[in-house]
Amino acid sequence: MSKTYGHFDDANREYVITDPKTPFPWINYLGNEDFFGLISNTGGGYNFYKDAKFRRITRYRYNSVPMDSVGRYFYIVDGATVWNPGWKPCKTPLDRYECRHGLNYTRITGEKNGVRASVLHFVPLGVKAEIQRLTLTNRSSEKKCLKLFSYAEWCLWNAATDGENFQRNLSTGEVEIERGEWTAIYHKTEYKERRDHYAYYSVNCPVQGYDTDRETFVGLYNDLNEPQAVLAGHSADSLAHGWSPIASHYIELELAPGESRDFIFVLGYAENPQDEKFENHQLPFTNYQLLTSLGERDHHIINKARAQEVIRRFATVEAVEAAFAELNALWDELLSKYHVESSDERMNRMVNIWNQYQCMITFCMSRSASFFESGVGRGMGFRDSNQDLVGFVHQIPSRARQRIIDIASTQFPDGGCYHQYQPLTKRGNNDIGGGFNDDPMWLLFGTTAYIRETGDMSILDEMVPWDNEPGTEVSLLEHLRISFNHVVNNLGPHGLPLIGRADWNDCLNLNCFSNDPNESFQTTGNKTEGSKAESLMIAGLFVFCGRQFCDLLKAKNLPSDTFEAEIEKMCKAVEQFGWDGEWYLRAYDYYGNKVGSHENEEGKIFIESQGWCGMARIGAELGMPEKALDSAAKLLDSEHGMVLNWPAYTTYHIELGEQSTYPAGYKENGGIFCHNNPWVIIAMTEAGRGNDAWTLYKKIAPAWIENQDLHKVEPYVYCQMVAGKEAAKPGEGKNSWLTGTAAWNWLVISQHILGIQPTYEGLRVNPCIPSDLKQYTVTRKWRDAEYVITLLNPNGKQTPDTPVILPYEPGKHEYTITL
Ligand code: BGC
Ligand code: NOJ
Repeated sequence: MSKTYGHFDDANREYVITDPKTPFPWINYLGNEDFFGLISNTGGGYNFYKDAKFRRITRYRYNSVPMDSVGRYFYIVDGATVWNPGWKPCKTPLDRYECRHGLNYTRITGEKNGVRASVLHFVPLGVKAEIQRLTLTNRSSEKKCLKLFSYAEWCLWNAATDGENFQRNLSTGEVEIERGEWTAIYHKTEYKERRDHYAYYSVNCPVQGYDTDRETFVGLYNDLNEPQAVLAGHSADSLAHGWSPIASHYIELELAPGESRDFIFVLGYAENPQDEKFENHQLPFTNYQLLTSLGERDHHIINKARAQEVIRRFATVEAVEAAFAELNALWDELLSKYHVESSDERMNRMVNIWNQYQCMITFCMSRSASFFESGVGRGMGFRDSNQDLVGFVHQIPSRARQRIIDIASTQFPDGGCYHQYQPLTKRGNNDIGGGFNDDPMWLLFGTTAYIRETGDMSILDEMVPWDNEPGTEVSLLEHLRISFNHVVNNLGPHGLPLIGRADWNDCLNLNCFSNDPNESFQTTGNKTEGSKAESLMIAGLFVFCGRQFCDLLKAKNLPSDTFEAEIEKMCKAVEQFGWDGEWYLRAYDYYGNKVGSHENEEGKIFIESQGWCGMARIGAELGMPEKALDSAAKLLDSEHGMVLNWPAYTTYHIELGEQSTYPAGYKENGGIFCHNNPWVIIAMTEAGRGNDAWTLYKKIAPAWIENQDLHKVEPYVYCQMVAGKEAAKPGEGKNSWLTGTAAWNWLVISQHILGIQPTYEGLRVNPCIPSDLKQYTVTRKWRDAEYVITLLNPNGKQTPDTPVILPYEPGKHEYTITL
């Protein structure tokens, strides 16, 4: 039996970590609107507003030694002992430690020598701040005289330049400190010039001291486990001038036996209109003391009204509790849209809590900020965001709607698009540009899912620009039509889609031909002119999403024949040129050679085309999807799931690109991509193979992880990749949280296994389950209706003879359906 570091607490919708030394930092996300925090089980992580690159509030040292530094730290000095509630950074052994990661909140509790410190972290709805409620309790029988130090390290706003432009940054830092009935430290670097925003860290009481200069607080050659101010037993009241500004409060307190005291810390962000940026006069308060980096020469005192409003609002425990209750009520509501009751507790857990939660997080973050994504490299991905919204649309459809418009606005008039855009500006990201030929199809995928969920056809009439240029607007429906045609207009010699820079597999770079180690496969120029590189993945995607588009046109009583004819042609091209005998080919390379064929020595078979062509059931009359599934089971499957390709490449193939750079068994070279196992699972359900689908589903789903040491990353969310069967350490997970895996597994379990599918005609009940699942009940809120559907499976079937369609009708309905 391997060691476990925690367990699920389903009643509270929490994962409870009981050992701080997890095999990797296990993190959570605070905030689900504009203000976010990443928080590890020891308090590590950082905050940002909207954009992890341009509005980074606190600093993080990625991949640091020791791992996971910096965070929100509280130091407690009790006699000669210094400790932190979350164990780090002092790592003083605790008498008790517990971290509860809940839905957009984390509660970390530590206990040492009779003192308990419990910190609740969350971002209240509609508020641009993280609240930290610290409760200190004296559980001993003696009076305790304690010293408390807080710690936050400011990031100088642009997380990219913060990590590189030291010649400038180490001279720009500025702060203000406001001391009175509360104590707030304001971070105002660059505020006097072009920034209209500032950050603050407050506590709801007077303090005995503070520090704002890192070197003074920590000591130049000290680590955060031995800050010199804490060791000295008092802060130094330092005022940061450049270097690295921080915020630390110093509080002395006494606790009688049994006594508890709460401190409310607010770590927030505020923006002022240009003409309200500054206070009119220098020191606005009579009963407050205001100190600034520049002292009396400072003519740029922040107008703090917006921060003060938040600080005042959260001055009491009652206010914090009310805001926390509001957050929990939001999650009650969000999770009530789809709820399953079955005898399988692990499935219930995935469906009712964690998978839905991760869908919210991927919707908010795309692939920008995690402990594997630095927040500076990538904004919102075109294909990523379309997939994410499909997992999220039932939660808050209006936000999905806006996202669709934002995404479509980054398209070019020919249907191509920017591969990414920045969330703050919503403008396409020039560093990466466009040319990924799968991208346009995903807009069909996202938009049709939104309409099936909501019935809101009006979105199709929204006027949406090209490349965000005012005056270029056409309807969203037109964007969809042009997206469809982008594939039709970019076909290769076999009538299959040209791949462009890459398709879903960013690392299958068939036109890149890179032999320069100083260039990135992802951003460098591609030789697409004259290329014959075609993708079977896009072919399947086109047929699948193209049909979804045709269904939409039919639901609107618009003609779809020309589109259907193109889809038919594509199916024929796949049957004729995309079939390798036992499975679908993956691609043709630049020269027109096969990729993913038994003729190849390595990379004989790939998962993407088995999944997509299988889901689209291309060549069904010829038995192709079933044969492809059998081949995938034989050649790709393993104990931990199906690998992406087999055998993995062992040498660099310049004509294949980044995929062949990875060591065998990792990432896109033979890793288990949790993202595309669901495609195969759906293809299995389309073939009526419920038992197979369930077996593969369980291999990927975190609730079934047995060996936490091996899996390494969080056991409550999906990760992008698990090392494959040819890897050094098969089963080791990496890149947790921000992956399309969340949305796809949500689709798999909610619509294809449990089988509750929103359609234009009604709610279709079309399960494909393991034959030993005898009964389950799904409560589904769909539009203005609520369906309580009980499925009975007395005869051990896997799928119904014909799906049942429940008509859309507002109100509550109960159905019992027997397979
Ligand atoms: C990774 C891919 C990712 C791509 C885009 C590659 O290095 O292997 O998974 O999609 O970068 O950033
Ligand atoms: C991660 C990227 O975010 C996604 O867009 C891509 O499809 C996969 N990796 C596979 O390469």
